Amino acid sequence: MRCAYVESQDPDNPLHGLRVGGRPDPGAPAEGWVPVTVRAAALNQHDLFSLRGVGLPAERLPMVLGTDAAGVLDDGTEVVVHSVVPSPGWAGEETLDPRRTLLSELHPGTLAERVWVPARNVVAKDPALTWAEAACLPTAYLTAYRMLFDAAALRPGQTVLVQGAGGGVATAAVVLGRAAGLRVWVTSRSEAKRARAVDIGAHAAFQTGTRLPEQVDAVVETVGAATWPHSLKALRPGGTVAVAGATSGAMPPAELNRIFFRSLRVVGTTMGTRAQLEALQRMLVATGARPVLDGVVPLARVGEGLGRLAAGEVFGKIVVDVALPEEDRARAA
Ligand SMILES: NC(=O)c1ccc[n+]([C@@H]2O[C@H](COP(=O)([O-])OP(=O)(O)OC[C@H]3O[C@@H](n4cnc5c(N)ncnc54)[C@H](OP(=O)(O)O)[C@@H]3O)[C@@H](O)[C@H]2O)c1
Repeated sequence: MRCAYVESQDPDNPLHGLRVGGRPDPGAPAEGWVPVTVRAAALNQHDLFSLRGVGLPAERLPMVLGTDAAGVLDDGTEVVVHSVVPSPGWAGEETLDPRRTLLSELHPGTLAERVWVPARNVVAKDPALTWAEAACLPTAYLTAYRMLFDAAALRPGQTVLVQGAGGGVATAAVVLGRAAGLRVWVTSRSEAKRARAVDIGAHAAFQTGTRLPEQVDAVVETVGAATWPHSLKALRPGGTVAVAGATSGAMPPAELNRIFFRSLRVVGTTMGTRAQLEALQRMLVATGARPVLDGVVPLARVGEGLGRLAAGEVFGKIVVDVALPEEDRARAA
């Protein structure tokens, strides 16, 4: 089975331990798991964390990378993979299981010709989405969906600030927020990314850290330390900062005085449930909104995509062509 996997880890040079090659099909780790023949996958910061040695213990290597995929079950059903795997016996909401894992943390991931998942961890792929679009849903789009509509509980007409315009989660929040009738503001350090954010639906784009024309109802925060003080200042009293990541660092000053004095809500959230993945897909189909693709790379050149992600050069999602049908490949070219 061809796949991209972590052979060794290096905090400073994550691509050093990346390999693309053949590995044995791992088979079902337990009863009730099913194989998905992957058509398309997508890249995430999570893959770089695994290559750096963050969140993936060295004793689990070699480990197949990838948390996002769309593909086909053995009976021909086209599916999107839900990457949150609860621990055996867990009966509650899957993201609240303290022993949950994402694919590629304990079980082999999605950057492979075949990935095994619990039978419950797939949702039927809607034919309105291309394989490449569907592959973007399980991590960045699901996370953004839950940040906007669950963690921040935003309603049409409210204003959201999305920090770090180019990231996968940030572009997802812009697209989904716009489609849901929010006023969407973004920040970016890059003029080009600010312009592109407006192209994909942001109502206004600001230089990172700029004082905003007015305070916002909620902030989508995945940048972390570099934008945290601005996120708190940007909120109206009683507003919510939804936090799902900390690319630039996870230990900024908490500014507890600002949080209690202005009755701010800080809500952490991670990934989403299977039901939210289904709802996200329905939303895309109903509104016509679609994931923003930075580009498509073949599995053999996954290192190029991860290199661009590590360099912060990406705007939207990098999709990996594992086995796209020819017409999709031509469309993506
Ligand atoms: N909890 C979850 O379930 C979950 C799911 C998905 C992702 N995440 C996490 O969310 C984070 C975002 O991931 P992503 O792939 O969407 O995006 P990303 O590639 O990590 O980058 C997001 C944005 O962060 C901004 N940024 C990075 N370093 C910065 C700095 N020093 N100062 C100011 N801005 C900076 C950049 O914005 P500009 O260049 O535009 O300024 C960049 O576009 C990651 O940490 C990821 O692990 C968490």
